[in-house]
Parts: sequence; C-alpha cells; structure tokens
Amino acid sequence: MTVSSPEPGDLEALGREASGCTRCRLAVGRTQVVFGTGTPAADLLFVGEGPGAEEDRQGLPFVGRSGKLLDRLVGEELGMTRESCYIANIVKCRPPGNRDPKPDEIEACRPWLEGQLERLRPRVVVTLGNTATRTLLGTTEGVTRLRGRSYPWRDIVLVPTYHPAAVLRGGPSAMAEMRADLVRAKLALAGAGAAG
Ligand code: URA
Ligand code: SF4
Repeated sequence: MTVSSPEPGDLEALGREASGCTRCRLAVGRTQVVFGTGTPAADLLFVGEGPGAEEDRQGLPFVGRSGKLLDRLVGEELGMTRESCYIANIVKCRPPGNRDPKPDEIEACRPWLEGQLERLRPRVVVTLGNTATRTLLGTTEGVTRLRGRSYPWRDIVLVPTYHPAAVLRGGPSAMAEMRADLVRAKLALAGAGAAG
C-alpha cells in the first residue's frame, strides 16, 4: 500500500473543514474562521498571530492596517503579492478584544496549521511576531532576540521577524529591520538561504 502525501488541492477541503471548528473557546466570539489566503503552490508562508476585528469581518488574514503594511513590504522587498505566497495565523479565530491567544487555544488550533504546512510544503516560513515565532521554534525567547537570522526548521528555512503592528508602533528602525528580514527570506527562496 502506498501512502501519498496530501495534494495541494486538499488545502481548500481543509479550509472547509476548519470553518466549522469548535476545538477551543475562540469559536464562541468569532464571526467566521480565518483559515488563510494565497496560492496552494506557495513556496513562502507567512504566519501571524490571529485575526483582528477586520480579519474577523472579512474572513481573510491581514486585511487591516497591519496587512496593508505587510502587503507593501512584501511588494517592495520580495517583489511579490499576497496572491503569490500564502498567509495564515497561529489561531484561526479572533481572540476577544484582540487579547493574545492563550496556550491551550494555540495548542487546540495547531493541527490546522500543521495541515496547512503538510499541504503547502513551503520552502520558507516567515513568522510575524512573538506568538508565531515562539510557537514554531518552540522557545520562550522573544522575537527581538530571535530575528536577524534564519533557522533550519524541519526541511524549511524559518525567518522570524516583527509583527507588522509592532513595526507600525516601532518606527523607522523596526521597519528597516523587518525589511532586512524579508530580504533574508528572498535570498532563502532564491536558494542562497542556508541558515545563518
Ligand atoms: N494580526 C495578525 O496576527 N494576523 C492577522 O491576520 C491580522 C493581524
Ligand atoms: Fe478551532 Fe482554531 Fe478557531 Fe479554536 S481558534 S475554534 S481551534 S479554528
């Protein structure tokens, strides 16, 4: 018997399955599950924290102020659009009042992200902010310490960077550092991206 890995097309089916998820308490306050957006053929995956108010309304990740900045920097530094990569979050439902997701919510939601990773098989993952970076690297260290280099993670190059909301608050130096991280992701995509 052959065991085949999931087809990229299965991503849509997984999204339909997730749309009814009640694995954690965040199901109660959401308008809809924000599964992810982009192409199933993506080499590059961005992982944020969780949907905000606008994302909850539209059912799409990073469509508010943070998303506008992400779109701009992805265009300027990678020459890519949100349609040519894939964008998802650690938790798929909006935490009430935009609080941080709790550890048990992150754990409950993890199978959806693992399912996305299995189906997308990205070559490069950019984690946006503390929650995504800590969750995937399995560390309690902060993103400020972790960013500025890439990490070999499974068979993927993982590039941690700031959350765009932090860059909006943090000014020009944070912006420059995030740009440098995106250049790191671009080099990794081009195949020059041995971790370091
Ligand atoms: N912040 C996130 O972490 N994710 C979104 O989708 C929007 C804002
Ligand atoms: Fe399910 Fe994740 Fe939403 Fe919790 S946050 S209900 S685990 S999809």
